[in-house]
Amino acid sequence: MKFHQIVEGKTKIFVPKVKNTKGPGKKGGVFYNPVMEFNRDVSIMVLDALNKKNILDGLAGTGIRGVRIANESGGNVIINDVNPASYTIIKRNIKLNNLDNAFAENKNLNTLLSKNRYDYIDIDPFGSPVLFIDSAMRSIKKNGVLGITATDTATLCGIYPKTCLRRYFAQPLKTKYAKEIGLRILIGFCVREGLKYDRGLKPLIGYSADHYFRIYLQTEKGVKNANSCMEKIGYVLHNFKTGERKISKETDKNYSIAGPLWTGKLFDKTFLNKLEVKEYFGTKKRIIKILGLWKDEANASALYYEVNNIAKMMKRDPVSMKNILKKLKNYNTSRTHFSPTAFKTDLNIEGIKSIFFR
Ligand SMILES: C[S@@+](CC[C@H](N)C(=O)[O-])C[C@H]1O[C@@H](n2cnc3c(N)ncnc32)[C@H](O)[C@@H]1O
Repeated sequence: MKFHQIVEGKTKIFVPKVKNTKGPGKKGGVFYNPVMEFNRDVSIMVLDALNKKNILDGLAGTGIRGVRIANESGGNVIINDVNPASYTIIKRNIKLNNLDNAFAENKNLNTLLSKNRYDYIDIDPFGSPVLFIDSAMRSIKKNGVLGITATDTATLCGIYPKTCLRRYFAQPLKTKYAKEIGLRILIGFCVREGLKYDRGLKPLIGYSADHYFRIYLQTEKGVKNANSCMEKIGYVLHNFKTGERKISKETDKNYSIAGPLWTGKLFDKTFLNKLEVKEYFGTKKRIIKILGLWKDEANASALYYEVNNIAKMMKRDPVSMKNILKKLKNYNTSRTHFSPTAFKTDLNIEGIKSIFFR
């Protein structure tokens, strides 16, 4: 495999000449996906705001995320990958940036997590992160944060319901807002893995982008926190005929059901306000835009509505987003990062229909 040097953020990195998103394979190739720069820029902002000491980049590929964290944000960073070819390039990348606060490891992530404890753990797998969440819950320190990516969005969004049940012990549902259900199933799964150990978990950020979901969860120790966190596990009840949807603690045989899943907030607004977009970020423009959307929807009701879908159900022409936001402004209505043609509101479907499609 041939490597060349690039710069991402403020960091020099050797990466495979040809993008490789298929994993090691027989030739032992090293994973690298340039599209994830946005995801990595966000993690630098998050780590900056968190100011954590002991950091683990558990599934590091070239080490690009961990090396960037060590170089641009600080802390002591362990950069690990089970693939020996990755380990070699991680060591080269640490050296390339003259870092004395980054250390390469070549272990199975679950082995590493069973031996050591960290303030921040990054889990960025191919596909689903489920195999690592239990050991991450045991390893994460008090008030520590987990950064978790899931690229098995088709499973979480209801294309493969059986796979979702096997992996996440939850029923997905193919609705027009399936992305939000999928993201909430992912968070719900992680939260339930923490509850076993009397840990509460609070999402600092939970978002959908490109082909993946990404969540940052902060641990809150103690039975009291765990119990109040458990209160936020529930279901989405959906009626395919009317488009009605609601969050509930119980299932109900009159509705199609998704869950169990996380019913609480996806964003912590206080935390979002601490994030600082760096001038040098390669994805600065995109981050500024998305951060605005995250802040807008941070205190919105769960479960977004697609404008075109409601218009179609009512056999009417779609209404512009501008018009929606103006007319529904008294009902805590906002845009959502999930879709440029969708909104969140405190109104239920009947309320929306009566205002727009009488
Ligand atoms: C999606 S890639 C990581 C990408 C990287 N974080 C980035 O930003 O470019 C997933 C990596 O996990 C590694 N991996 C898979 N299973 C592992 C395990 N059990 N322990 C440690 N590493 C593992 C693979 O070798 C691969 O490099």
